[in-house]
Amino acid sequence: MLDSYGRNINYLRLSLTERCQLRCSYCSKSDGKQCLKDRELDKDSLIFAAEIFGGLGFDKIRLTGGEPLLRRDILKIVSGIKKLDVYKDIAITTNGVMLFDLAEELKKAGLDRVNISLDSLDNETYKAVTGSSLDKTLYGIEKAIGTFKKVKLNVVIIKGVNDASTESFISFARENPVDVRFIELMPLGNSGVGVKNDEILRSYSFLKPCKTESFSEPARYYTSDGFLGRVGFISPMSAKFCKFCNRMRLTSDGKLRLCLGNNDEISIAEELKAKNGDRAKEIIISAISKKPKEGFEKDFITKRKMNRIGG
Ligand code: 5AD
Ligand code: SF4
Repeated sequence: MLDSYGRNINYLRLSLTERCQLRCSYCSKSDGKQCLKDRELDKDSLIFAAEIFGGLGFDKIRLTGGEPLLRRDILKIVSGIKKLDVYKDIAITTNGVMLFDLAEELKKAGLDRVNISLDSLDNETYKAVTGSSLDKTLYGIEKAIGTFKKVKLNVVIIKGVNDASTESFISFARENPVDVRFIELMPLGNSGVGVKNDEILRSYSFLKPCKTESFSEPARYYTSDGFLGRVGFISPMSAKFCKFCNRMRLTSDGKLRLCLGNNDEISIAEELKAKNGDRAKEIIISAISKKPKEGFEKDFITKRKMNRIGG
């Protein structure tokens, strides 16, 4: 579906929960509001939402959170979406903590790809960011690499916290068939100072750009001789990619968030619960037409933190 700026909106980011076992400062730390489980859309409403979006021409879907693997019905949600047979592939963004145990079953249920949030390969630094230790996530990553055709790591660099970790991530991309992507810190969590991606790239002049695969892919990828993987840079703050935005987000409490960097939201929770597909569709079409041209305007302060939006 085209929005009012001619962008083809065909990518649904469906948040399954606000809950998470980790407490990444840039995402969820000390959010005053409790992440209430009873606000979450149930499995059938989530699958119904995916079906409605599919009917509007959406063919890309990603399950997000919070931590989506905390949903006890995650396998049924994945297989329910798979059965719709409208999405080219089904992807998930996870912190990786539960992946070791769940990867194979997720694959069987129809999951195609995983992105894993990992902000340091050093246990102490990882703890400083997330509040938890690294070992389970590393096992999860290893398992994911063996199970799925494509694994990406999401890394958010924060000054004075994990800015010494970039080199080990570049080595990780050299030695493993994964895409390591540095995502610039967005003002969607607690304070903290991000690092511009250009600053990181400047330190690794041996990295050479790869061909751009698609403009709606926000990462610009680099690689070098002998690398099994690639290094990606997602720069929402220093080089906005709003012109190529193809996304609509549905929060786990049933609100359409039109843009990460804009507080407008429109609820379809009641319509989903009542299985009123026609009305839900009308609201989604209207929401797409209201998508702002750009996000993160000066002085933007988010009313929802990242864990309550779905990245
Ligand atoms: N800024 C940038 N990236 C963030 N993420 C979470 N919060 C922020 C933020 N404030 C990233 C996480 C997650 C992805 C969906 O978004 O790394 O993997
Ligand atoms: Fe959890 Fe991901 Fe938010 Fe970290 S960024 S607190 S892992 S949802």
